[in-house]
Amino acid sequence: MSLSPAFLDELRMRTTLSSVISRHTKLQKAGREWKACCPFHKEKTPSFTVNDEKGFYHCFGCGAHGDAISFLTETRGLPFIDAVKELAENAGMQMPAPDPRARERQEKSASLRDVMEAAANWYVEQLNSPAGAETGAYLDQRGITQETRRAFGLGFAPDARGKLEDALKQFPRDMLIEAGLIAVPDDGRSPYDRFRSRLMFPIRDPRGRVIAFSGRIIGDGKPKYLNSPDTPLFDKGRTIYNFDRASPAARDAKRIIVVEGQMDVIALDQAGFGEAVAPLGTAVTEHQLALLWRIDEAPIFCFDGDAAGQKAAMRAVDRAMPAIRPDRTLTFVQLPAGQDPDDIIRSGGTDMLREQFARPLGLDAFLWRYEARQIDPKSPTARAKLKTRMDALANAIGDPAMRQEFGREFRQRFWDTFGWKKKEVDFVRDAMAATAGRNRLQGLDIYVRAILLGLSRYPAVVKSRADQIQALVIAEPLLARWRDLLVGAAFERPDLDEDMIETILANAELESAEKRHSWRDLGFSFFYRKTETDVAIRDLEAAIETIARSQELDQNLEAVRANLEQAADSEDFEGVWNRESERRKQLMAEKQRLHDELESLGEAAA
Ligand code: UTP
Ligand code: MN
Repeated sequence: MSLSPAFLDELRMRTTLSSVISRHTKLQKAGREWKACCPFHKEKTPSFTVNDEKGFYHCFGCGAHGDAISFLTETRGLPFIDAVKELAENAGMQMPAPDPRARERQEKSASLRDVMEAAANWYVEQLNSPAGAETGAYLDQRGITQETRRAFGLGFAPDARGKLEDALKQFPRDMLIEAGLIAVPDDGRSPYDRFRSRLMFPIRDPRGRVIAFSGRIIGDGKPKYLNSPDTPLFDKGRTIYNFDRASPAARDAKRIIVVEGQMDVIALDQAGFGEAVAPLGTAVTEHQLALLWRIDEAPIFCFDGDAAGQKAAMRAVDRAMPAIRPDRTLTFVQLPAGQDPDDIIRSGGTDMLREQFARPLGLDAFLWRYEARQIDPKSPTARAKLKTRMDALANAIGDPAMRQEFGREFRQRFWDTFGWKKKEVDFVRDAMAATAGRNRLQGLDIYVRAILLGLSRYPAVVKSRADQIQALVIAEPLLARWRDLLVGAAFERPDLDEDMIETILANAELESAEKRHSWRDLGFSFFYRKTETDVAIRDLEAAIETIARSQELDQNLEAVRANLEQAADSEDFEGVWNRESERRKQLMAEKQRLHDELESLGEAAA
């Protein structure tokens, strides 16, 4: 239909822009104009103005500018002609007579719409009839409420070849065929209902009119989901499931969420996320992206964390790259592998989802993660491939500023991951391994020997401190055996004394008196005969305590090292690094303190 400029002028004149806009956005009078928080970008203070006299709106924040028609095409994703029709209806204007071909097309689509509406109603009736009981039970089991069923117009296509045709016999068969409701087999057999034994999801256009169906099989059968074929009403690649309901919700929520399937959309809606949509079983197309960007500059793609889900997200990215701009990007929420949003909601994960939606991953971070995760960081060839791939991704961006910034960002991430920080991690790891080794061999084992020696003289302490002694980490096998003998003997022989221990150790060929002597320079009180028994025992217990705590610290230090190593490739390396270094410093200081304590225990007696 061609619309004359005169008609459009008349329409603009008869339309009060503020009343059109106020249906979507709350307006405040400001002199001769109206003011609002801009519906086209996120803001807290109003920079969006509406001028009824001139018939246009303008946002001083994001530059959005247009008239009543563009407001409807932009905010609701309506085609131009539909926006004009809606305004004409409101203004009480007759649409100009279309030329004959356009009239024919329009009438045809009008009547196809009637067919679709009738079919949708019939499917709903079927769901509520005894034939639909099994499907109803299936929906019950999936937790889909009656209210949700109504809101999404869910229905049921019975398992019969000609029931729909019977029910819609007021329409000629050709029309049912054109609407994609009846399929014509190639082999000349008679046409039959396309959807049989399926849970029916009506697919609606942005104005909420049914233009197609998607049917999920009930019970076994293939395919799991069957969609209407493309028809004069339905172009799969230009249609987004639930767009009509989600776009107003998205304006309130200030985000739109893209999931993989219609069940996910429905589950999210029921959980309070009305702003969810889905493509129809295909990768997102440029047209669908354009629609999404009309609603939000950074739609959230929320896909399964498994390989297939991530690939699907990546396909969306590939489509989007040429069109990416600062105000047209994608963000991502990656779910646990093997789970879709519906699964997560049903297992009580709504809060987790809410948190994730509040801080989705940016496009740059998503791309880096997706690509970097796949390579072996130790292989220079793999690293080179990654570098090339990241450059190619950045270069796929059409917008020059974005291209440049992404290129820079990727190089920075590459450097952060494989450059000096990585080396620093390795360095710290080596240094700490060396320290740990030193502690074990030259540090702690000296004290462990001293303790064992003390225990051999004061067996009572083996019993009073049995747990700590058992838990001591002893690297040297000979010392470990010594400890085991002591603990075993202390529990088997209540009368155990120093002489008996000497015999036991001698029999086990463990310690010579001479060897023991060489540890005396540690100077602990419990080495000296002249020390009062209670003092010797007190010091021995203190030494055991200190060693046990020092070993605990070693374990914590090992955890620090492991955390650092694990975080080496991650997003948040910087944060982990700062946190863990701080912790390491504290642990080392504490360890030093314990060491000093041990030393002073020795010196005090000497
Ligand atoms: P899934 O197989 O992940 O289904 O397909 P789902 O949404 O989790 O469905 P339930 O929970 O088993 O009921 C995801 C989407 O891929 C499309 C559909 O749009 C589906 O929602 N699809 C899947 C098809 O188009 N055809 C198929 O055969 C399968
Ligand atoms: Mn599912």
